[in-house]
Parts: sequence; C-alpha cells; structure tokens
Amino acid sequence: MSQESIAAGAIAGSIRSEAGRGQWSSRWVFFLAATGSAVGLGNIWKFPYITGQNGGGAFVLVYLACILAIGIPLLMAEVMIGRRGRANPEGAIAAVAREAGASRHWRRIGSLAVLTGFLVLSYYAVIAGWTVAYTPAALSGSFVGLNAESSGALFNTLLADPWRLTAYGSFVLLLTLGIVAFGVRDGLERSLRFMMPGLFLILLVLVGYAATTGHFMQAVEFLFAPDFSKLTGKGVLIALGHAFFTLSLASGAMMAYGSYLPAGTSIVRTSLMVAATDTTVALLAGLAIFPLVFANGMEPGSGPGLVFVTLPIAFGQMPLGALFGGLFFVMLALAALTSTISLSEPTIAWLGERFGMGRVKAVLLSGAAVWLLSLGSVLSFNHWSEVTLFGKTFFDGLDFLTSNLMMPLGGLFTVLFTGWVMKRAIAAQALGLDQSGAFGLWWLAIRWITPLAIALMFLHSLGLF
Ligand code: TRP
Repeated sequence: MSQESIAAGAIAGSIRSEAGRGQWSSRWVFFLAATGSAVGLGNIWKFPYITGQNGGGAFVLVYLACILAIGIPLLMAEVMIGRRGRANPEGAIAAVAREAGASRHWRRIGSLAVLTGFLVLSYYAVIAGWTVAYTPAALSGSFVGLNAESSGALFNTLLADPWRLTAYGSFVLLLTLGIVAFGVRDGLERSLRFMMPGLFLILLVLVGYAATTGHFMQAVEFLFAPDFSKLTGKGVLIALGHAFFTLSLASGAMMAYGSYLPAGTSIVRTSLMVAATDTTVALLAGLAIFPLVFANGMEPGSGPGLVFVTLPIAFGQMPLGALFGGLFFVMLALAALTSTISLSEPTIAWLGERFGMGRVKAVLLSGAAVWLLSLGSVLSFNHWSEVTLFGKTFFDGLDFLTSNLMMPLGGLFTVLFTGWVMKRAIAAQALGLDQSGAFGLWWLAIRWITPLAIALMFLHSLGLF
C-alpha cells in the first residue's frame, strides 16, 4: 500500500468512504450504544450468580484482571476493524485483509461473528422475555409471602408454559426489530438516549435501597475481600469466559457498532470508558442484589435462580418490595433490550450489504429466522426437555456452542488477524495512536497475551484439561 493511501487513511481513520451508511451522531452516542450492548443480562443476572458460586472477592479480582488484559485489547481491536473497514463484520474484515495483502478467507471470521450474534439473539431474547414476565408480577405484589418453594414453583410454572414463553420472547423480538428497522440514527440512537440513562438511574436507586437494609457492608465484603482459598481453576476460566460475554466480544456487535463510528473519535478512550462502565454496572448490580440476599438470610451461591427465584423472595418480604422489585425487573428488561438491539444489527447490516437488501426487508427476514430458532429454546424448557444437543438441552447447547466454542474461536482468530496479519503501522493509525507508549502495550497484549489466554480457555471448555 502506498504512503499516500496510508496518509489518507490517517485522516479518515478508515479505508472506505462513509457515504450511504449510517453513522452515530457523536462519540457520546457510540459510547451509549456500545455500553448498551455490553451491559445486559450478563451483568445483572449472570455476574452476581457466578460471583456467588465462585466465592466472591477473589473471583472478582480475577475477572477484573481478565477484563484488563483480554477484554479491553480485544474490544479495541474489534471497534478498530469495524471502523477501518466501514462495513458489516464480514465486509470489514475483508477490506482490512485486502489492505494488508492477506487472503480473502479471513473474512470468514466476520461471517462466524455474524452467525454467533444471530444464534445468541435466539436464546437471549427468551431470557429477556422472563424479565418482561416478572415485571408485572413484581409490581402487582405477587411476590408477597413467597418462600423458597413457592418462588421456585412460580419460576417453573413460567418455564413449563411454551405459550407464555413464546409470547414474551416474541414481544422482545418485535420490540427489538421494530427499533432496529428505523436505522442507526432514528432507531438505535433515539431509543438508547432514554433507555441507558433510565437504566443507570434505576440501578442507583436500587443500590441506595440496598444500603438501607443494614447488610450493605456484608455485601461489600463479599464482593471485595478476596479469599483465595475459595478460588478454583475452573473459577478462573469462568471469569475469563465472562469477560468475553459481558463485553459482547466475538459476536459481531462491537465491529458493527465500530463501523458507524465517526472518524477521528478516540477508540482507545471510548473503549476504556465502555469497559469501565460495564464493570461498574456489574459491581453495582452485586451491591444492589447481595444486601437483599443477606438481609433475608439467603444463599449467595444459588446459581442461575439468584435473580428469578431468590430475589423475588427478598422483594416479597421487604418494605416497598413491590415498587423496588418492579424497578429491578424494568431495569433488567432495559439492559436486555439494549443488548438484543446490538445482537440483531450485525445480521441486518450483513444482509443489507452482502445481498443489497433494503433495511426493512433485512429486518423482516432475519426476524422471521431468529423467531423460528427461538422456539427451539422455548420448547427446550418443556416439551423438548429430553431432546439434546451436545448432551444438553437445546437452550443450554446453544449457549455452550456460542459462548464456549464460537466466541473463543472467533475471538482467537480476531486477535491473530489483528496482531499477525495487520501491519503494525496500519493498526496504530487505525487506532489513531503513534507507535510508541500505549500502542506498544496494546500490541503486546494483542500479539501474545490475548491469544494465549483465549487458547487456554478454549482448550478448557473442550474439557482437554
Ligand atoms: N454483553 C451482553 C451481556 O452482558 C451479552 C452479549 C454477548 C451480547 N454477546 C453479545 C450482547 C453481542 C450484544 C451483542 O448481557
């Protein structure tokens, strides 16, 4: 590539024109969108329960280290590739590979990412549906007087009813696709501008509420006082995998969002802000949830049922529990919705750019396909509970396939592509950095630390050690 075109790229931060594509109206909006993608069920539902199961403080420390050493470098790489290539994940990687004089086949990493996002959406929407189901239940006071048994029964009755699960999941998908159909500015941007502040506001109110229970310090200690004797090798790898999931990596979302990023915006600074906010939300969710759990003498390590079974019992016993319980599930629904929006975007951009399909048509086609697939997850909780995929139910199998196989594999190839195929000078320029200082640190992480750590995690998830 000639010096002139490198110089031209330096101005635009990308090698393609932005003409005809959507673009975020500011860096702030990109921050909202990427944070909306990252903050989701992973932060509020999953992080607290895996922390509970893995002993608290020491696990949190390892998780923070994984975010720093792996999550942040990969997040920067994905946003950078998206902006450099200005296309859907497949098209963006193809463009960057072409610039590097590398094989076209690298674009398959992008195709894999689009497919991962599509598959995740099909089951994520079903869980998001649970949050929609729980919101009116909380507000109407249905949690009053629940005990461990009746709360478990309430949850199981929902899971046993395919019609209700389908209705709630479809509602989430309709809302998501309805928003996405309006495009980057009128759909994504406009909805995020009120959903994200709403989510933060509710979270702060809930942390304040938790602080009144008298068990706040116990939660602080649980989350922040490390006891390494409670940490297992498996816990370390769970922390690593969660760093991936919580930052929406290797599923096309961050690349697609990066492709709408205006030139000249600092990818480094914005990515750091996204990761910091995502982590803060996870920790605050812990501080909102654990005081209630401890105040009611319940177990922090109860697993996936922590939010849907344990927490309703607490809300049922607390003053103003209907109000705060309702707020909690509204917050969870908002967090899930901003994530489903970003999960659907890569497929839609891919259909549009690869096949020249109009946006509405792409939304309808991908929506129909993902809805059909979501029925598999719905049925796996009831009629198909005996049907297995990788020895698990359809839902668990899909989660395993995406989180434990496709994401690590896609992430591994993404960092190998970035660190070993892209030229150092071009990577620096695409990030908007000169080749010294901070860039050197990132380059070291991308070439060595992230690939080794991801490979380790991947081998573990295959049960090889
Ligand atoms: N980060 C989301 C969460 O914490 C989950 C997620 C994984 C995701 N991959 C994604 C969301 C891709 C949007 C896009 O809940």
